[in-house]
Amino acid sequence: MDYKRLIVKALEARERAYAPYSGFMVGAALMGKNGRVYEGCNVENAAYTPSNCAERTAFFQAVSQGEREFQAIAIVGGPRSGVRELCPPCGVCRQVMREFCVPEEFEVVLASDQEHYRVFTLAQLLPMGFGPENL
Ligand code: THU
Repeated sequence: MDYKRLIVKALEARERAYAPYSGFMVGAALMGKNGRVYEGCNVENAAYTPSNCAERTAFFQAVSQGEREFQAIAIVGGPRSGVRELCPPCGVCRQVMREFCVPEEFEVVLASDQEHYRVFTLAQLLPMGFGPENL
């Protein structure tokens, strides 16, 4: 897995974040099983609740283009001035990952830049999550 390449794409996606209310810009790069990468950014809204996180933007774009299986996602986020710390995904985004990913295999790459990142499995970030096979 080329984590650095995925992080660069997440940083590029972050440049397109629409975050006029929080000023917190997030980018995500999601890699499908076939190696194709789907980018996403957070998209906020004046009514606040319709806002969408970068991770879900990436997932919904990928699924709407026919992708259903995923290897990894890189996430970068921080204030407009720059990314200084790791940005863990919110609970709602973890649940969306759970829908389409094998928790013990899917890798979540939290990065501040290409050189500074940590890799977690979804199982680590969402232990005992509720998924499709629970229904
Ligand atoms: N946000 C994301 O896009 N992903 C995360 O992992 C954390 C939070 C967004 C939502 C909102 O637009 C802004 O960051 C502040 O919460």
